[in-house]
Amino acid sequence: MSQRTLVLLKPDAVKRGLIGEIIRRIERKANWTITALELRTLDRGVLEQHYAEHVGKPFYEPLVDFMSSGPVVSLVVEGERVIEGVRALAGPTDPIAAPSGSIRGDFGTITRENLIHASDSEESAEREIKIFFPGIS
Ligand code: PPS
Repeated sequence: MSQRTLVLLKPDAVKRGLIGEIIRRIERKANWTITALELRTLDRGVLEQHYAEHVGKPFYEPLVDFMSSGPVVSLVVEGERVIEGVRALAGPTDPIAAPSGSIRGDFGTITRENLIHASDSEESAEREIKIFFPGIS
């Protein structure tokens, strides 16, 4: 089943020079294609829309502060079961609980600095792609 997903390489991934490593892992997968890509520092307005469902949670402010602290790479990736697939490549939210071989397991230690965001459903993907790439239909 072909799908599309929004992926963000978070400010820690960009600062640590891990853009190439993470994109390489995505590009190696058969039948997946990167169809949009941008590097920019996100303003709080974009992040407030993106993380609207988390308003009021204890991690919300630290998350928005962190995500606006430096440039982020935004990508749209299309392909076979790509929503579940990128989340599997990323590993669980807490990098210490993430297995070796996953992006968070291999490179992360702190939950806030967990390197990558990936949409969790088709509905989230469509909503998030509109926020980050309003020109894409
Ligand atoms: S929830 O409540 O289960 O939906 O939350 P979860 O999916 O685990 O996390 C939602 C996003 O919040 C980030 N997060 C944090 N950021 C900063 N500090 C702390 N402590 C923290 N805990 C969770 C988490 O990485 C998710 O961000 P995205 O960008 O969606 O990966």
